[in-house]
Amino acid sequence: MALDASNKKATLSFSDGTPSMDLPIHEGTIGPDVIDIRQLYGKTKKFTYDPGFMSTAACDSSITYIDGDKGELLYRGYPIEQLATQCDYLETCHLLLYGELPNVAQKQAFDKTVTYHTMVNEQMQFFLRGFRRDAHPMAVMTGLVGAMSAFYPDSMNLNDPQQREISAHRLIAKMPTLVAMAYKYTVGQPYVYPRNDLSYAANFMRMMFATPCEEYKVNDVLVRAMDRIFILHADHEQNASTSTVRLCASSGTNPFAAIAAGVACLWGPAHGGANEAALNMLYDIQSQGGVAKIGEFIAKVKDKDSEVRLMGFGHRVYKNYDPRAKLMRETCHEVLHELGLQNDPLFELAMALEKIALEDDYFVSRKLYPNVDYYSGIVQKAIGIPVPLFTAIFALARTVGWIAQLNEMIADPEYKIGRPRQLYVGATRRDAKPIDKR
Ligand code: CMC
Repeated sequence: MALDASNKKATLSFSDGTPSMDLPIHEGTIGPDVIDIRQLYGKTKKFTYDPGFMSTAACDSSITYIDGDKGELLYRGYPIEQLATQCDYLETCHLLLYGELPNVAQKQAFDKTVTYHTMVNEQMQFFLRGFRRDAHPMAVMTGLVGAMSAFYPDSMNLNDPQQREISAHRLIAKMPTLVAMAYKYTVGQPYVYPRNDLSYAANFMRMMFATPCEEYKVNDVLVRAMDRIFILHADHEQNASTSTVRLCASSGTNPFAAIAAGVACLWGPAHGGANEAALNMLYDIQSQGGVAKIGEFIAKVKDKDSEVRLMGFGHRVYKNYDPRAKLMRETCHEVLHELGLQNDPLFELAMALEKIALEDDYFVSRKLYPNVDYYSGIVQKAIGIPVPLFTAIFALARTVGWIAQLNEMIADPEYKIGRPRQLYVGATRRDAKPIDKR
């Protein structure tokens, strides 16, 4: 989008004789202003330096807004608390993709369209068979999502809005099927085909837990919990995986390849892999003595030399309670109660660890609060989802956000291939000697 400059400007002056330069400032509807540095290199032959993007807005966007200090998250202006309590996941998908919550007729039409695409090409299962049975589900998902470009060649053109829309529907509809297939493959059970009379979340849970000899009994509390996990993970502004999807798509690659790049990035323990890492951390403490060992564990976390982190705590943007974590915590208690697991030692340990960390000065002074992954891991574990599958479920839920962000970028007539520059600190020009002279 072409940005209008505000009345404000920044003036940059230099100590090396380079003439000073005025830089336009753009204002968003809420949140920090941005200083527009696009002309900087052309006029000064200098780059800006911001590894980790601590002070850099890589794009303008009207999809998601986060106020990290307040602990606020809005999708298209709507607070996450309202969406999580008044909408289902597919309504949230409609909102993220098209900018508005659907009315009844639009919801029916959108649900029908997504439902229509839930099956995957039968050939996909033979492709899946090429993986080792013990492969990590995220390794499998990276492969399966990338492979969709080999199965759906009629919706590959990123520059065709209609093809982009079909690929969006396909991805949203098929991700649950693929995640469930990846799971069934690891446990050696037959794949369960989607059932389109069920809700999005219920259908996913049935594909995960039903077998040809035993139907899955839908439990409304658990289905609601799963749906909430999906809503809370649907988008999160310009995080690492979303930025990866944007950068990947900026080369003009196809939507399936771009989303596969997002899946790969999400896998890391500092991002989507944190829910799995948080649960594994709880298992570790449990195996060393459980609640009695929390003090020892916290001491290790505080020890700078140990490199141990309290997984599921802390966030680059939230310096207050992650609003998603509040909602997930509520769901966590509901699910544990529904399943009668309040006294399960692992869950008792999780709650005790959370309480101690929230009162400890190390965490309080650094504004380290539980993030959504701390509780989503516990909820998924209680529902019966195997730990290595947690991040795949995050990927399933985030797919719509990735697509919405990708669409926003491609539809922007000013978009360019992403191409960061660098501060070069390597050897200056030198001559290569023949091997016998080195
Ligand atoms: N446990 C212990 N100390 C921590 C933690 C933690 N989880 N997170 C941050 N710190 C400390 C860190 O050591 C540093 O202390 P000091 O100032 O004394 O050096 C300070 O807090 C600031 O940390 P940082 O690494 O500079 O912060 P960051 O913004 O670069 O990192 C983070 C954010 C999410 C990578 C980090 O908090 C972390 O590693 N958390 C655990 C992993 C996790 O739960 N990730 C999921 C994020 S939410 C899901 C998503 O949106 O993808």
